[in-house]
Amino acid sequence: MKTFNLGPTDLEVPAVVTGVMRIQDKTDDEVRSLFHASREAGIDFFDHADIYGDAPFHGCERRFAEALGLTTSEREEIVLQTKAGIVKDGPYFDFSYHHLVCQVEGSLRALDTDYIDVLLLHRPDALVEPEEVARAFDKLSSTGKVLHFGVSNHTPGQIELLKRYVDQPIVANQLQLSITHAPIIAQGVAANMAGLDQSASRDLGMLDYCRLNDITVQAWSPFQAGFFTGVFLGNPDYPELNAVIDRLAAKYDVRPEGIATAWITRHPANMQVVLGTTTPDRVTWAAAGADVVLTRPEWYELYRAAGYLVP
Ligand SMILES: NC(=O)c1ccc[n+]([C@@H]2O[C@H](COP(=O)([O-])OP(=O)(O)OC[C@H]3O[C@@H](n4cnc5c(N)ncnc54)[C@H](OP(=O)(O)O)[C@@H]3O)[C@@H](O)[C@H]2O)c1
Repeated sequence: MKTFNLGPTDLEVPAVVTGVMRIQDKTDDEVRSLFHASREAGIDFFDHADIYGDAPFHGCERRFAEALGLTTSEREEIVLQTKAGIVKDGPYFDFSYHHLVCQVEGSLRALDTDYIDVLLLHRPDALVEPEEVARAFDKLSSTGKVLHFGVSNHTPGQIELLKRYVDQPIVANQLQLSITHAPIIAQGVAANMAGLDQSASRDLGMLDYCRLNDITVQAWSPFQAGFFTGVFLGNPDYPELNAVIDRLAAKYDVRPEGIATAWITRHPANMQVVLGTTTPDRVTWAAAGADVVLTRPEWYELYRAAGYLVP
């Protein structure tokens, strides 16, 4: 498994991580199998959020902890990342001091741990008061409850605003990215093209900003065609893309999931692929893709086959 440091930290992290947004209804055995398949594939990093699961808060975090019952030393072997800032019953966003601190306390209880390795602000709060975020991060950091801080779905300007007040480095930005949903990459490729939707800048140069500022990009929904619209793998709506994926899978002796992963890990920004599958074999197949280094023509062929223009 390819590894690198998370943002500017000393924390060495894998290129593929296991997201556990979909484990609420899984049995103890199923959660354990997912965990063990992840560990065997070199994944020691698990992505949570306070809102994952059926309950208003902490459903999947609790399911994870209850099913695994990790000892203290087992817990110290893994990286637990979680997120806060979304209130599902609304919905609305809340980056207030009180909300962030309370949510982390809830995550600590649900995960049955003393510390969160990485806390992400889940989605930008239009009413953000960065001084409040700074106060919350200081409290969580000084009490040892959170070791590192990051964001998700944030633009460069939103991060700059936080950075003006927050002392801790922003180490990660988790963004939606798959071969078929790649606006963070595609807009730059088609820069300066008139009348082309692909060239419209919707995130204001997020990817370049993250690379320039040593912020690790984490790719969520790496197999989804769109916003939770189902996977593109084996999807009859994407015959050309699947033909290329299947050909490359045969060439590199991996499953199609490995090629979908490799397209993201091939990017030189050192991105992390955040898997959402609950199927242990799919974790194994996807993780194997991190060892495949696609050639430049192959990477661009996948990109074109997904419908993006190379002007
Ligand atoms: N920051 C954010 O705003 C945000 C938003 C959404 C998600 N996330 C994070 O990203 C993670 C991944 O999101 P996601 O679950 O939407 O991503 P995904 O990995 O693209 O999709 C996984 C889903 O696709 C299904 N699937 C069907 N065929 C598959 C195949 N061949 N290979 C892999 N999966 C297949 C899986 O079913 P099975 O389980 O039956 O295999 C599962 O339901 C989440 O767990 C969460 O941690 C973050």
